[in-house]
Amino acid sequence: MASETVIELQQIDVQFSEKGQEVHAVDHVDLTVSRGDIYGIVGYSGAGKSTLVRTINLLQRPTGGKSLVLGQDMLSLNAKQLRQERQRIGMIFQHFNLMNSRTIAENVAFPLKGHKSKAEIKAKVDSLLKLVGLDERADAYPAELSGGQKQRVGIARALASDPEILISDEATSALDPKTTSSILDLLKHLNETLGLTIVLITHEMEAVKQICNKVAVMDAGRIIERGDLLQIFAQPKEQLTKDFIDTTIQLDAALEAVRQEPAVQNLAPSDRLLRLTYVGASTDQPLVATLFKDYQVTANILFGDIQILQGTPFGNLIVVLSGTSADLARAFTYLHDNDVTVVALDGKEETPA
Ligand SMILES: Nc1ncnc2c1ncn2[C@@H]1O[C@H](COP(=O)(O)OP(=O)(O)O)[C@@H](O)[C@H]1O
Ligand SMILES: [Mg+2]
Repeated sequence: MASETVIELQQIDVQFSEKGQEVHAVDHVDLTVSRGDIYGIVGYSGAGKSTLVRTINLLQRPTGGKSLVLGQDMLSLNAKQLRQERQRIGMIFQHFNLMNSRTIAENVAFPLKGHKSKAEIKAKVDSLLKLVGLDERADAYPAELSGGQKQRVGIARALASDPEILISDEATSALDPKTTSSILDLLKHLNETLGLTIVLITHEMEAVKQICNKVAVMDAGRIIERGDLLQIFAQPKEQLTKDFIDTTIQLDAALEAVRQEPAVQNLAPSDRLLRLTYVGASTDQPLVATLFKDYQVTANILFGDIQILQGTPFGNLIVVLSGTSADLARAFTYLHDNDVTVVALDGKEETPA
């Protein structure tokens, strides 16, 4: 099935000049988002993520390049047309940007003012608050709500104009992990039930991992790596991408603990301490069984982490493999042939395969 392109950024370039200093915030970035995607853009603070996504609805005008959204060349629109197009692109933010002197219902109703009758607005607000699970709090004020509830209001408000695209700029960054997870679940639910296309800006790969089907890694104004979530997790190429993925596994802490274990302290000269990473059906059990049965290599699993990404296992093991060097070499070939990524943790040759 050919998927419809809803956002196409072509060679987007944004340069700021601040007090005579040139900042190249976005450096000739191409980005294609298809309908129904939850497209994660991950990067450290200052990478240019916010500036890039703000060129989608022209909250930021690029100094170069093209922004095509829902078939419109955004830069060719007059002010009135642009206002209309922006209705089709909702946005949520880290700090919610709610009006504190207005009730929840009034905040959600705000974008509808002047477009609909009072009764229509009330019906719409009721259904939006229900959608985000806040129908009981319509008359509360923002100060009475938790952070997670405030973001639910932000989401309801962003959906008031029935947008086809939602841009989420660090929308969970001010929230604790459990609340973050529930907001991400809500976004996923809206994606599935409304067909909403979502661009999710974050500095947390954990958030990308939870709901995105695509991911781009941004650094110094450029997208340095991009692709399907599973493909990127299975075979990251750039070190920054690997670092972001590792934040979701807590591998550093595991490795520190593993290094204290007798099996590692007393490594035989031919033993290998390795990290094995795989995506897909192969689980640790058949892997380890095959290494022994077919290659006479024993695997001592010191740490294992298996997560489910989009319904597919993503496994990370720290193992000691023991065998003759000939058997180990054949085992490495087997692992390589089965798309298991092998990284040496013992300071010996970096890629054994
Ligand atoms: N309005 C602006 N004027 C000048 N510099 C800016 C402006 N907005 C962003 N920048 C600079 O552009 C770079 C990218 O910023 P930003 O897009 O906010 O990154 P991110 O969202 O990834 O943290 C930073 O160096 C930032 O200081
Ligand atoms: Mg930002």
